[in-house]
Amino acid sequence: MPHPILRALGFSGTRALADVVVPRRTFHDVILPAATRRAIDQAMAHVTRHDLIFNQWGLGERHPGGLALAFNFAGPSGTGKTICAEAIAHALGRRLLVVRYAEVESMWYGETPKNVSAVFRMAREQGAVLFFDEADAIASRRVSSPNQAQLRESNLVVNVLLQELESYPGVVVFATNLAANFDPAFERRIRAHVLFEMPGLAERAAIWRVQMHPRTPLAPDVDFQQLAERYEVSGGDIRNAVLKAALAAAAEPGPDAQKRIAQRHLDEGMRDVLAGKRVMRQSLFDPVASPPDWLQAAMRIRRATQLALLVAVLALLAAAVALTLALAG
Ligand SMILES: Nc1ncnc2c1ncn2[C@@H]1O[C@H](COP(=O)(O)OP(=O)(O)OP(=O)(O)O)[C@@H](O)[C@H]1O
Ligand SMILES: [Mg+2]
Repeated sequence: MPHPILRALGFSGTRALADVVVPRRTFHDVILPAATRRAIDQAMAHVTRHDLIFNQWGLGERHPGGLALAFNFAGPSGTGKTICAEAIAHALGRRLLVVRYAEVESMWYGETPKNVSAVFRMAREQGAVLFFDEADAIASRRVSSPNQAQLRESNLVVNVLLQELESYPGVVVFATNLAANFDPAFERRIRAHVLFEMPGLAERAAIWRVQMHPRTPLAPDVDFQQLAERYEVSGGDIRNAVLKAALAAAAEPGPDAQKRIAQRHLDEGMRDVLAGKRVMRQSLFDPVASPPDWLQAAMRIRRATQLALLVAVLALLAAAVALTLALAG
């Protein structure tokens, strides 16, 4: 752990390592292509028959290790990996412990493996389903790197993860966007890979529908089939478009009781979402793109403030030491 003064100055990774979610969404809320659905059902069969095979039939004692029920959900953003992990936890009557690798990865040497162990400990205590979101980095191959210290650290992280998986008695789900580049030893611990594909036409229409609540007021012109045909997008995009459409409909003048979400709101919502994604792509792939000036300035000010604070604290410490010495002498 970094020194408390450094932590107070914002030089640390002391944010919560994981969020505990009490699952509310169920498999009724998830619309999946048939192949993905089958893979999920098989994964659930691993879980529900685990006790019979490994405990009641005693095979757990013959085959120790490999206790954890680890799955990998691979697929593009917004295809329902997180919501499915939530539905699994719901089906098992467990909480979901959501871990983001960025939060576990520490800039402090030696902290990351400890953080990995800490989240497994937390999940054991809570009896939770453990969900590693954005797990590409954590699951990646132990590669050679020009930086030996960094290499040792990342190998250590994977080793700790493998050890934890050996003995963890619950369900662990990894979500990755890139299926490739898995560490082979890690790969062996994964019971099943579930490929999350982009939804087809029928799934998209059903996702538009499932995003609405029975109390959501819809105008008679709303046509989910047409929306599904018009926009080849992910479930996450549909969700965002529905929320934008609801906001636009709610902001219109007139009494609330007469407000309705109409097809044009949904169309505009989706166009907004698509425009936003284009901007994102541009800034991601534009080689000269850099943070806007105001952000760069803010970052510079923050760094300077932190440095100034650090210098002030050090000066204070030096003064205190000098004073103590003077008094003692
Ligand atoms: N297959 C689906 N069925 C129903 N709703 C979906 C589906 N996919 C996505 N959604 C909606 O989109 C939201 C975002 O999806 P989710 O967070 O599960 O995607 P993800 O695959 O985890 O994406 P990311 O890789 O960006 O984390 C969900 O909360 C849900 O409202
Ligand atoms: Mg997710």
